[in-house]
Amino acid sequence: MLPHAKKRVLWVDDDPSQLLVGQSILERVGYTFLAAPDGQEALRIVAEKKPDLILLDYSLGDMTGKEVFDLLALQHENIRTGCLPVAMLTGRGATPAEQRALFSNGLAAYLLKPFSEPELLNVIENMILMSEVRATNRLLNQELEDTYSSILLALASLLSAKDNYTGEHSGAVLNFVAEVGMRLGMEEGSVYDLKLAALLHDIGKIGVPEAILRKPSRLEDWEKAIMDQHVVRGYEALKKLPRLKRVSEFVLRHHEWWDGRGYPDNLAGDQIPLEARIIAVVDAYDAMTSDRPYRKGLSQEIAIDRLREAAGTQFDPQVVECFANCLHEGLLGDRNVNLPEL
Ligand SMILES: [Fe+2]
Repeated sequence: MLPHAKKRVLWVDDDPSQLLVGQSILERVGYTFLAAPDGQEALRIVAEKKPDLILLDYSLGDMTGKEVFDLLALQHENIRTGCLPVAMLTGRGATPAEQRALFSNGLAAYLLKPFSEPELLNVIENMILMSEVRATNRLLNQELEDTYSSILLALASLLSAKDNYTGEHSGAVLNFVAEVGMRLGMEEGSVYDLKLAALLHDIGKIGVPEAILRKPSRLEDWEKAIMDQHVVRGYEALKKLPRLKRVSEFVLRHHEWWDGRGYPDNLAGDQIPLEARIIAVVDAYDAMTSDRPYRKGLSQEIAIDRLREAAGTQFDPQVVECFANCLHEGLLGDRNVNLPEL
């Protein structure tokens, strides 16, 4: 018996004699055999019985094997990712272009008829082995991502411990930026980086003395110079992590101004990454509307007016309008969030 016996193999073929031969070979070595005589039945069995591997004849009665494969790949993510491997069995050779299209859509193997019994079993063994490796890799990657997120949240909570306002503030900014980013056409991966940058944008304040960080009155020039270093400190710390290289750039730029009068490098307009322009607007809004020990926060309406007054000088006008629309439509989440999930 083979080491992968007990796995369920679905064989899709409109030739009953081929199914009988297949059943005899596979059951003899311990596989559980599932049979489908046409495409519709194959789709049903895959959905209901969750096979571990599929052998798909190229020419079926109701549709071609390629059409069945395309439908399966559309419906099942584990086929697209190769975790549920599919082999195409064919009596004629497909063109190289057809083969490329099938493989790029997740096809695991291509077996030309007539094939010998050892050849078939060998292909099945390899496909199952590969699918198990892929499934393990996906699990490990997910664990790695989760660990990474936990470390970043722990890092953010350090800032929260040093200065509670800054910690809460980062949490609220994170909630707001995602909606604005999506509205401005950012893709899912970019929105995730934007959220990371929002979470960590003031992390460099860990290096700012508390007397300056918590000073209720206006900062002296020398104090402001120290405070302003938080963007560079945050950037220097985060860029050392390969996964945060892009994010560190957004952190560095979140106090640049649209008209070039910000810091640390007087970048202007599109020179400033969109992510940093979004964080700048949301950051300012959240600071204006937060209650502090020495003053009450502004209302939403007044804060939006202030943002609009600074649109074109401090802020990107497009980002300000998008953010104002989100607020008016009540799309933004709870601002009083400490450290939400990434
Ligand atoms: Fe900042």
